[in-house]
Amino acid sequence: MTSEGARKESDGTNRSGPERNPGRRSGLNGDVDPDVEPIDPASITLAMLEQRPGPILQALQRDQPVVFVPALDAWLVTGREEAVEAMRDADRFTVDDPRFSTAVVLGPSMLSLDGDEHGRHRGAFAPHFRPMAVRDGFDDWLDRRAAELVARFAGDGEAELRTALAGPLAVDTIARFLGLEGVGSADVLGWYRHLADAIVGVSVGEPVSTEARRAVAQIQDRVDEALADRGHPSLIRRIADGGALHADELGPSVAVLMFGAIETSEGMTANVLWHLLSRPALLDRVRLDRSLLPAVVEESLRLEPAAAVVDRYTTGRVQLGGVTIPAGDLVTISLAGANLDPATFEHPTRFDIDRPNLRQHVTFVQGPHGCLGLHLARAETIAAVHAVLDACPDVAFDRERSSDPSGLIFRKPASLVATWAT
Ligand code: HEM
Repeated sequence: MTSEGARKESDGTNRSGPERNPGRRSGLNGDVDPDVEPIDPASITLAMLEQRPGPILQALQRDQPVVFVPALDAWLVTGREEAVEAMRDADRFTVDDPRFSTAVVLGPSMLSLDGDEHGRHRGAFAPHFRPMAVRDGFDDWLDRRAAELVARFAGDGEAELRTALAGPLAVDTIARFLGLEGVGSADVLGWYRHLADAIVGVSVGEPVSTEARRAVAQIQDRVDEALADRGHPSLIRRIADGGALHADELGPSVAVLMFGAIETSEGMTANVLWHLLSRPALLDRVRLDRSLLPAVVEESLRLEPAAAVVDRYTTGRVQLGGVTIPAGDLVTISLAGANLDPATFEHPTRFDIDRPNLRQHVTFVQGPHGCLGLHLARAETIAAVHAVLDACPDVAFDRERSSDPSGLIFRKPASLVATWAT
């Protein structure tokens, strides 16, 4: 979920990967898309991966599930088996590396630690993300907040749903979760933007911006305020009372939660709405039976993960999928690629809400860094779609003014316009 730059220089290990091995992968019914052309990793550009990665990921997964891609300056893992192996093995594939720009900007946090320290940081937050905690603390609030946001534009007969609904709901949800509602959505969003820009900047060699430093200091100020008030109702106060984290560790944790929750949840909700609105037959089915909505959400998560990749560094010379990767190299795990595995998902490119194994996607990652916010994110997206269908029952997609999801790391439609009768 990070955007990384410089990679350690080669130690001479062959970066061309194993020989192409046609038919290496065959799915449940030998279901490898015959139309997918083989691809030379050296010909892959960032623009190709941003715009239409599907056929590239499928071709690599079939022929070279672990391969060095020069444009990424990283080893790209598209095989599901290999992706899961790397995600689960923090001893060989770590996030604890000084090159991770997230840690440089935000300070050490669970996203950039491994081992016992990671367990200490994560353990402090984990109970607050459990399904029951989310249900009790959020279900009603999410329904109300989503309905309020939709009510602002329902009378207009049209809206761009990413910026009018998905984005604001993501910001408001994490602000409420952290107990920072008093801060205001505009400030939270402003902090997020400065931090996200700085993380990208640092990954291409720029110093941490003044704005990002100020955002980190302002977040720590809010944390200190919460800590000074013993009766403060925030999650920060409760975590501090738990005693597992020191006061100066809470600022980075809060920043990481914002960083982990805002862009991803906005993208998740926008992608679900995009999949639903762009399929009128599916939309009709869901109008008649809202209990299908969780299945739509899972299939959208599989085919368009809002965070399409996660990065790790090798801790030594490692073997993965028959390929030797040198010590200290960047390994980019394509969650989107792993989700297209034909051995797990029959006809993997089809949007099919009747699959028996909808939840076997790896969008929320497996292993020690699995997404903590997954229950909250699912509840948020479902509340958003219900709110749209409740207030605008005849909602329809305006394809002309909308765009397909795109992005190298974070994927979502730049524009998602819907119309309805008023
Ligand atoms: C309320 C919203 C969310 C919150 C609070 C949240 C929180 C977190 C946290 C705290 C982590 C770090 C876990 C660790 O390192 O131990 C994490 C990891 C992750 N989250 Fe979420 N998340 C949210 C929504 C999402 C969404 C919507 C997606 C994608 C659709 C997503 C994808 C991921 C991924 C891919 C990771 C793994 C990062 C890595 O392994 O490098 N998250 N999330």
